[in-house]
Amino acid sequence: MTTLGETILVVDDDPYIQEALGDRLESLGYRVARASDGKQALELIDHQDPQMVFLDIEMPGMKGLDVLREIRAREKDFPVVMITAYGSVDLAVEAMKEGAYDFIPKPFKANHIALVVEKAMERQRLRREKEVLSEEVDKRYRLVAGTSAKLNAAISGAKKAAGSKSTILLLGESGTGKELFARAIHNWSERKDRPFIAINCVGLSKELLESELFGYEKGAFTGASQLKRGKIEIANGGTVFLDEVGDISEELQAKLLRFLQEREFERVGGTQLIRVDVRIIAATNRNLEAAVKEGRFREDLYYRINVVPIVLPPLRGRKEDVPVLAQFFMQRFSIESKKSFTEISQEALEALNAYDWPGNVRELANVIERAVVLGQPPIIQIEDLSPGIVAAEGEIDNRPTPVSYHESVDEYRREVIVGALAQTQGNRAAAARLPSISPESFFPHQRVLRVAFGAERHREIVRRCKVIHIARSHFSG
Ligand SMILES: Nc1ncnc2c1ncn2[C@@H]1O[C@H](COP(=O)(O)OP(=O)(O)OP(=O)(O)O)[C@@H](O)[C@H]1O
Ligand SMILES: [Mg+2]
Repeated sequence: MTTLGETILVVDDDPYIQEALGDRLESLGYRVARASDGKQALELIDHQDPQMVFLDIEMPGMKGLDVLREIRAREKDFPVVMITAYGSVDLAVEAMKEGAYDFIPKPFKANHIALVVEKAMERQRLRREKEVLSEEVDKRYRLVAGTSAKLNAAISGAKKAAGSKSTILLLGESGTGKELFARAIHNWSERKDRPFIAINCVGLSKELLESELFGYEKGAFTGASQLKRGKIEIANGGTVFLDEVGDISEELQAKLLRFLQEREFERVGGTQLIRVDVRIIAATNRNLEAAVKEGRFREDLYYRINVVPIVLPPLRGRKEDVPVLAQFFMQRFSIESKKSFTEISQEALEALNAYDWPGNVRELANVIERAVVLGQPPIIQIEDLSPGIVAAEGEIDNRPTPVSYHESVDEYRREVIVGALAQTQGNRAAAARLPSISPESFFPHQRVLRVAFGAERHREIVRRCKVIHIARSHFSG
């Protein structure tokens, strides 16, 4: 029996129909709301968020068709089934044109009702899931790349676990692929055609997270003007991914524990128990065991979550995956940015291999994306990699030797001289007279000057320098 707490509204001015239809729907496991006229019906629609409406076509006051138009004007997409009496088939046809989902003639048969409801509700669920799915499916998370033994061990563990109903705990540093694995496990499971709903437990207040997870009833708090289904309810039949579960507040830990034990919950402000069938995958980059010891994470919750742990190894511990992943991301980003990279230079590969990857696969993906965007196809060159990566490699054998003050000043002057000579096409006399060759900077460095300009020009510069010096001291004196 359905205990999803889905509400069906019955609108009919005939109390007998209201009762008979209502009872039938309740016996099918639905909540039923009842209205005797159009005005009341619209009020209930605004406040109770029904998933389906049975609407009498002939009512005193507002006609069924008018109510239907009002519903459409509110952009409600739940199915509306018209209740028609003998002789109102024309109206029913008109109603279908106006967007009614179906109609049932009075008097109705009990199993006819069951059939119509089942079909309509299934359509609603599919719609809702499709909405969620198109929002959630992200092509970044389709493929797990890598060939290392450590990664393969994690993959085969995950595939085995995918076949069970057990709660899975993904552990690993940031960027090691926990979310990727969560989605992969969902896709490897029988639930793959149902929703995968990710919930990030970080940064949400206890109240927000609670209503995210469990939903709320209308009027549960200020601002709760409509009933809202939580993500756990929407995920029914599918997978709920609790990301960063180590960051969940203590109060919510208790609620989550209860849900994990009973698979039942109430919406915030609600009293009705809602039962769902969802697989839980949790992930954290924290040391949960330590958090338990320090009293920050409930031990009982820890055991509920840590049923099948899967550890994702850091990238630095499986360097053989680096070139494979680099190739993989090169292809992906080439396609995305319509550039035809086919190769990574040996030098660039060596730099990638030498790097420590503290940000793991995410960092590698970013580095390659940047190289593809900035580089020149078809080869990713070492120059296309972020300076941090290349510098790290240079640290071992190419460290620049420290230089003395005088050496670096000489170096600077040499550059100025070379620049000046370039400016004058090698004409030393002209270069010596350029403003960039200032006497102040060259006077003490005669050797450099001599080498640069030759003895004769050097003497000339020195002469100028002396004149300027004398003039300066004269004016400043
Ligand atoms: N083996 C892999 N093959 C392909 N892509 C991967 C792999 N591992 C990680 N990625 C990619 O690296 C990025 C980071 O992965 P993901 O978001 O799953 O990491 P995470 O462990 O959840 O990190 P965090 O703890 O920071 O949330 C994603 O774009 C993901 O698709
Ligand atoms: Mg993550």
